[in-house]
Amino acid sequence: MRTARRIEAIPPYLFAEIDRKIAERKAAGVDVISFGIGDPDLPTPDFVVEELARAASDPSTHQYPSYFGLPSFRRAIADFYRRRFGVELDPDTQVLPLLGSKEGIAHLPWAFVDPGDQVLVTEPGYPVYEVGTILAGGEPVYIPLTAEDGWFPDFAAVDPSTGPRAKLLWLCYPSNPTGAVATLEQLEGAVRFAAGRDLLLAYDNAYSEITYDGFVAPSVLQVPGATEVALEFGSLSKIFNMTGWRIGWAVGSATAIEALGRVKTNIDSGIFNAVQRAGVAALESGMPHLPGLLETYRRRRDRIMEVFWDAGWKVEAPKGALYVWLPTPPGESSVDFTARLLDEAGVVVAPGTGYGPSGEGYIRLSITIPDSRLDEGCERVRKALVGR
Ligand SMILES: Cc1ncc(COP(=O)(O)O)c(C=O)c1O
Repeated sequence: MRTARRIEAIPPYLFAEIDRKIAERKAAGVDVISFGIGDPDLPTPDFVVEELARAASDPSTHQYPSYFGLPSFRRAIADFYRRRFGVELDPDTQVLPLLGSKEGIAHLPWAFVDPGDQVLVTEPGYPVYEVGTILAGGEPVYIPLTAEDGWFPDFAAVDPSTGPRAKLLWLCYPSNPTGAVATLEQLEGAVRFAAGRDLLLAYDNAYSEITYDGFVAPSVLQVPGATEVALEFGSLSKIFNMTGWRIGWAVGSATAIEALGRVKTNIDSGIFNAVQRAGVAALESGMPHLPGLLETYRRRRDRIMEVFWDAGWKVEAPKGALYVWLPTPPGESSVDFTARLLDEAGVVVAPGTGYGPSGEGYIRLSITIPDSRLDEGCERVRKALVGR
């Protein structure tokens, strides 16, 4: 049996590797506390679960779903964009439901990238941008991000010769892994850059509602003209604690929606209609659970920040997403510090290098673990920081 060369070109998925290490430690009797993956620990709101139960007991939901999603779900997404961002979308041509945003992110290069084409990948970033590019036969070209620039690209400084065969540009704010946010003004610069280079701007807004300290995240589609240039990815996973349900969307450029839809209809058969009906209930709800959810995350974020501030770290708390992104102790690499935390403290964090070379010297802690475990984990990290 011989596997394809493209499989050799992609690394094992970061969290599959981390899961393997956790299992090893647990088998050795260690009480492991994981700040690894960003998977909300709190339940999906009751009203969404109840709508799923109702819809699942309706036999009309049991057959293959429509390839392009339920019209009512597409309308609910468009209505959410009008209410939340003031963006008008045609639910038939500018909205495409996805089996989670990861699915669409991974498939987008199949619609845009021919072998030899390039994709501009901002890093540190969500690893699927790079891997999806490689699987489609494309070549990722990194745009490194830095703390000094607030983890946002300095487009004026990007060498015009970078990625001469590029067709796509990936951006994600609120950011996984850095927790950085972007203003509408910054996104205007991104749209200008993409339009000037005839790129599709692929904007990952999976954490659009997960922000702190009064910051309200924009949609890239608020930029005038962006629906010609950009495709935005959204998801119910993080906003509604629905990671297991697999439901998200792409919105924006009708050309990109048509192309991605053409790939998808040949690969998958859509989202369970009962899940889509629950998605309608979620999007039409006004999100009454959100203030409590954000307060929980803010408290956890601050708890972790205090440990590092007390140990002398001079960094600001992140304004968005589900992560705290912190420099490693002086002289310790991401992988070394991650390994030491696991060995000395039984604590799992993600090494910054899992998100690209510019993540060297950083770790990422997720705030999606219950408070009591978070407290215990913070105490162990504190000892590992000051006990040296
Ligand atoms: C930046 C980013 N985009 C997309 C996703 C995928 O989310 P989902 O496929 O659950 O919608 C994640 C998941 O962690 C993420 O961090």
